[in-house]
Amino acid sequence: MCGIVGYIGEKNCVDVLLDGLSSLEYRGYDSAGIAVFENGEVETVKSCGRLVNLRDKLKSDGAPISKCGIGHTRWATHGKPSDANAHPHSGSKVTIVHNGIIENYVDLKNSLQEKGVKFISDTDTEVAAKLIDYYYHNDPLAAIKSALSRIRGSFAFGILFSDIPDTIYAVRKDSPLIVAEGDGESFIASDIPAVLKYTRKYYLIEENEVAVLTKRGIRFCDFDGETIEKEMQTATWDISAAEKGGYRHFMLKEIYEQPKAIKDTVSPRIIDGKIVFDGIKDGEFKGISQIHIVACGTAMHAGMVGKYAIESLARIPVNVDIASEFRYRDPIFGKNDYLIIISQSGETADTLAALRLARSRGVKTIAVVNVVGSSIARGADHVIYTWAGPEIAVASTKAYSVQLSVMYMLAARIAFENNAIDNSKYTEFCSEILKLPEAVSQTLAQQENCQRLASIYQNAHSLFFIGRGMDYAVSMEGSLKLKEISYIHSEAYAAGELKHGTISLIVEGMPVIAVATQRQLVEKTVSNIKEVKARGANVLLACREGENGVGEADELIELPDMPDIFMPSLAVIPLQLFAYYMAVLRGCDVDKPRNLAKSVTVE
Ligand code: AGP
Repeated sequence: MCGIVGYIGEKNCVDVLLDGLSSLEYRGYDSAGIAVFENGEVETVKSCGRLVNLRDKLKSDGAPISKCGIGHTRWATHGKPSDANAHPHSGSKVTIVHNGIIENYVDLKNSLQEKGVKFISDTDTEVAAKLIDYYYHNDPLAAIKSALSRIRGSFAFGILFSDIPDTIYAVRKDSPLIVAEGDGESFIASDIPAVLKYTRKYYLIEENEVAVLTKRGIRFCDFDGETIEKEMQTATWDISAAEKGGYRHFMLKEIYEQPKAIKDTVSPRIIDGKIVFDGIKDGEFKGISQIHIVACGTAMHAGMVGKYAIESLARIPVNVDIASEFRYRDPIFGKNDYLIIISQSGETADTLAALRLARSRGVKTIAVVNVVGSSIARGADHVIYTWAGPEIAVASTKAYSVQLSVMYMLAARIAFENNAIDNSKYTEFCSEILKLPEAVSQTLAQQENCQRLASIYQNAHSLFFIGRGMDYAVSMEGSLKLKEISYIHSEAYAAGELKHGTISLIVEGMPVIAVATQRQLVEKTVSNIKEVKARGANVLLACREGENGVGEADELIELPDMPDIFMPSLAVIPLQLFAYYMAVLRGCDVDKPRNLAKSVTVE
């Protein structure tokens, strides 16, 4: 939701902080700021808008010279984007940057105001800064502890005390934060890409732990100052993975990375015609009575595909839920239920809360996550990592594709362990799924066709996406992609449901994108195409080569042939490309769409 960084070492920390914020801008870009120690004082510079505005301000006003400081790039939660609401925020001696939400900030603000504390912003973060300040009497750990004991919500804080120069304190609860160690330098960051240029060595910090960064290095301790030993992690990503690599946008790069991402996620797990997940023993899924799949956004759409895959192969009931709904509807769990949590970032607040709720009810949980060591990965009983590499574009593409591939593998594994499929079908499934990367590569050849189609529909005010079964699930994802990056309204609909209301919206020229890949449903979807065409719709059909619904469509996207269960992985590709080119043609900021952020770490 926001990105925070901190640095102490021998380099000019302003350059390092700006570098780090540039790598984290995908987490929020409404405003940015830094606070650094200079001549024994804390100097704060911040500005509304993109990071480039802060760079310009530093250039025109002259950047402070410092070797220790913190920085922040914001996705506005409390208070609109403005200079005053930009982080860092300060009290008389305390300056902080924050990622997260303080749920009881109004009460805390009122109690501080009653003690005469003044505020200049609308943010919850300023309240945290002034609360720590209120408790600060030359003991930073005690001040942090007292303040955190009253704060409810999520946070990752980078904290400076003006009378403790060249020292950074860092704490977290529910929001992501890593502490990295370089050669004679230390960092804090919301995510690994911010430090990859300098070091691959990092530590994960837990709740109720404090990281203290000084020129002597990093010390972890509890609030009483007792040292805590931590195990060092090593980032495996190469730096280029977090760069555009010659593509115009991260989104297009990541669309083209999908074949490799699927291969990296699937191939190592197919061993002698069986599916192997690290740390998950054979028989783990035997006897499951019901499966709950919970996620948000695109990850939830992958879960919808997972539902169809698991129910068709394993004949076990699956219900898919949006995490923000699931966590508050007091869900009903059976004795042998299983929860599958899906999240690219592994930090989505609603999804993390849903996981914790299920665990509190004794439900076995498995997380499908792309970021190693993330909160959701660490919070589940088991984790199946997707190996897509860092996904920088806010609009998820390759993460969705690898999530689908894990859903397929889970469906086959669960079906086999519950005797719903025999050995030969299991082995056949394993050999078929290995063909998926090549089929996706072939589908990417639709790029020019999708670019052409986008030029036809670029001025549309609203579009429909329709499909049945798995094609409906894919339509949901295609609609979200288009909406979030091109800002064109669209609606995904179960094709058979149109006649129950929304067909009233079909007017002359209304674009309808129909997805028809599920063989036993194609004919039905073609009937729906005829219904909307009869009312003037302009239909773009995504289907297998040669199965173009008896020529009813105005435009075609033809897909390679794979078994029905894998077709969502092919059908989504042109929908991603279509959305991408619609956004490009409309001059939208493809990688950083307005109002969004890559990881929604607040409710
Ligand atoms: C997808 O394009 C969106 N950016 C968004 O819906 C995203 O999928 C959702 O916020 C879930 O994120 P997660 O997978 O990191 O949990």
